[in-house]
Amino acid sequence: MNHFQYKDGELCCEDIPVSVIASEVGTPFYLYSKATLSRHFQAFDSGFSDIDHITCFAVKSCSNIAVLSLFAGYGGGADIVSGGELFRALQAGVDPRKIIYSGVGKSEEELRYGLKSGILLFNVESEQELHRLGKVAAEMDVTAPISFRVNPDVDPKTHAYISTGLAKNKFGIPINEALEIYQQAAEMEHIKVMGVSCHIGSQLTLISPFVESLRKVKSFVGRLAEKGIIINYIDLGGGVGITYDDEKPPHPHEYAKAIKEELGGLKATLILEPGRVIVGNAGILVTEVQYTKTNRGGDKEKNFVVVDAGMNDLTRPSLYGAFHSIIPVKEKEGTSQVVDIVGPICETGDFLAKDREFAQVEQGDLLAVMSAGAYGFTMSSNYNSRPRVAEVMVSGDRFAVIRERESMESLIQGESIPEFLEKDDGR
Ligand code: LLP
Repeated sequence: MNHFQYKDGELCCEDIPVSVIASEVGTPFYLYSKATLSRHFQAFDSGFSDIDHITCFAVKSCSNIAVLSLFAGYGGGADIVSGGELFRALQAGVDPRKIIYSGVGKSEEELRYGLKSGILLFNVESEQELHRLGKVAAEMDVTAPISFRVNPDVDPKTHAYISTGLAKNKFGIPINEALEIYQQAAEMEHIKVMGVSCHIGSQLTLISPFVESLRKVKSFVGRLAEKGIIINYIDLGGGVGITYDDEKPPHPHEYAKAIKEELGGLKATLILEPGRVIVGNAGILVTEVQYTKTNRGGDKEKNFVVVDAGMNDLTRPSLYGAFHSIIPVKEKEGTSQVVDIVGPICETGDFLAKDREFAQVEQGDLLAVMSAGAYGFTMSSNYNSRPRVAEVMVSGDRFAVIRERESMESLIQGESIPEFLEKDDGR
């Protein structure tokens, strides 16, 4: 359930017609519903309310500080993967003792920043990272709390680009080889072994791969205990998938129930890193039709709706062939046709929808690209020198711009023409 619904033929976000916001902020823009964000956070978090747990929101999915601060207010933590995400989380008021740091490529500077900030855990992904972290912690004369991210070799049955828990993926340390590195870490002066983490992929629509990896992690925790290494935190990675089209993902409570059953009496704090399930259906991308056209070749013809949002604004369709439902902001009746909905970027791969049965629309009509709250704005870029779009949040009958549309000036911020190009000195 989300708060983007038609009222009297007008798509509204909570109590405001989307067209009203569009006329004030221009298009394209991302639009988030506070009520939906809150509802989804709580739906997920409450499933675990009877056990010791921390819901660490995956910042990469939607990193605006307004969104992060909302979840921090509900007691949420953050799952970060860069120094930049740590900065955002801290600016948003997330408690550093609820921040966990994942990712295969943490730089020395990033490790130092994490240690200085007093984060809860580093999810270490390689032996070299362990030694780098040990060295930085020694230099700072502190102890680094860690989990290792183990790779349980479980097939998440999702898109290849977002499946991470198979042996062939770059993430984590194979679970069968992890015992040795745990023993090594346990001996290190500036390292404190605290947990085990795993994340097998994103947009999972089945519960069984989660349960299977937890089973493997649990048995591994038992083997660690035999060696005298006690685990305080078990991190199960990202959350469940969402409905973009006709997927039927489990309700977060079903997922929570299965996880709690599998956990049994294991005494450890559970860490969860959901992103998509919380924000995915809490945000849309609003765009305006610029042109409609039909290209004819031989006996074939192809209809295009050209909109003002492109693959730089929402890259998921181009990158993953992902489906996003697209609906007109003013409900349409009458005939429909099969169209490609495309952006202004100079690439054939720039599309939001392909061969979609769509209502007849015309120049100036507003369209809403649904389910765009996760990995939407955060994956946007300035490709084709397009300023990144505004982000807006609605609460009831109020709205606020939570990130301004970028200006032309911002496009060249930090750029300069070197002197040797200005004065031709003959070299
Ligand atoms: N934890 C870790 C270590 C992760 O790598 C991810 C996502 C998450 C948590 C959050 O997973 P979620 O709850 O959102 O499924 N750009 C892709 C998704 C990439 C996911 C990367 N990792 C997309 O647009 O589908």
